[in-house]
Amino acid sequence: MTGLATRAAAGVAGWGSALPTQVVTNADLQRRLDTDDDWITTRTGIKERRIAVDGETTGPLAVRAARDALHAAGLEATDIDLVVVATCTAEVPMPSTAALVAAELGTTAGGFDLDAACAGFGYALATTASLLSTGIARRALLIGADTMSRVVDPDDRATAVLFGDGAAALVLTDPSIVNLPSAQVGERGDRSVGGRSGAATPLPGLISADLVIDGAGVDLLRIPAGGSRLPTSAATLAAGGQFIQMEGRELFRRAVREVVDSVERTLGRAGVSAADVSWFAPHQANARIVDAVVARTGIAADRTLGNGDRYGNTSAASIPLALAEAAAAGRLHDGDLILVSGFGAGLSVGTVLWRWGRS
Ligand code: UT7
Repeated sequence: MTGLATRAAAGVAGWGSALPTQVVTNADLQRRLDTDDDWITTRTGIKERRIAVDGETTGPLAVRAARDALHAAGLEATDIDLVVVATCTAEVPMPSTAALVAAELGTTAGGFDLDAACAGFGYALATTASLLSTGIARRALLIGADTMSRVVDPDDRATAVLFGDGAAALVLTDPSIVNLPSAQVGERGDRSVGGRSGAATPLPGLISADLVIDGAGVDLLRIPAGGSRLPTSAATLAAGGQFIQMEGRELFRRAVREVVDSVERTLGRAGVSAADVSWFAPHQANARIVDAVVARTGIAADRTLGNGDRYGNTSAASIPLALAEAAAAGRLHDGDLILVSGFGAGLSVGTVLWRWGRS
């Protein structure tokens, strides 16, 4: 698969992850909710999840993951000029979690949060790669971070068993600058710097993408209060409006269909088949959704990365957590075709075909 054009070049310089220390097992939930391990395991594949205590919420988790990724990349925070945080559970409503991360790390990099709910990582990956390939940014921290436990009603068995907290980060860089010391990375340079452009080795980065919203599913997953339509008040709190409301069965049905279609469009745009995919990293909402997508698309099950059994649904963090774990285990190699696909509230779907390559 060396002939495929890279539309938005970006190399992976490092990766990192951060998880809360508290493990909540299905047995723990069974002690306080009308549920049991058998129901949760057979319906979702989840065995345990990490739940944040104070001080482990979206901002601090994102900072930990970012530090980990910077360390792996051998870079300082000041080498970074863009911070993108995919999240739907920002640390505070304002400023952005990206701003809090940049301030904590001590960089003047630009940054913003990107909210596409559980589909956030695919959207943020496509966005970050685009900013790198146009030279608007040179070295970016791309973070997926969510603390879903803070927006889930702990007494609602239909949702409390599903979600978990976590964060993961990638350092993505413009491949044309990889061999330049930081001091020389100022204005955008010749893309052949580093000896990769135009050479036989294809550039790492985004090959194709598919970003869609199925608006017919807009009410299937929502937090009704706490925004401008219905600011938090004693009445909204009394009604539980700060918590996720989900129509699981219909969401399940649409998620399978939408993800299958999105994967097929993404592969079709690149002109590759499911058999060409080196690794598939789907969002981890439910093992049965993943199984259905794998079965219908023909992607190999043993090439599918996952962590839902250990972490539950960590929203925008689920895919980068899977990538960071696979990379740390040495399973991802330069030139591998990585397919990521997330779906969530909206119903937002974000799929990206990515050529993995270290920078
Ligand atoms: O990441 C964002 C996107 N999120 C998703 O894509 C989630 C998609 N949906 C799902 O993963 C599944 O629909 C769920 C895991 C949420 C639910 O599985 P299901 O097989 O669709 O179950 P259901 O909602 O149809 O409920 C079946 C039964 C119900 O009881 P009755 O009405 O049949 O008597 C529920 O009340 O299971 C009951 N139930 C539970 N029982 C034990 C619901 N939650 C629980 C529970 N423990 N935790």
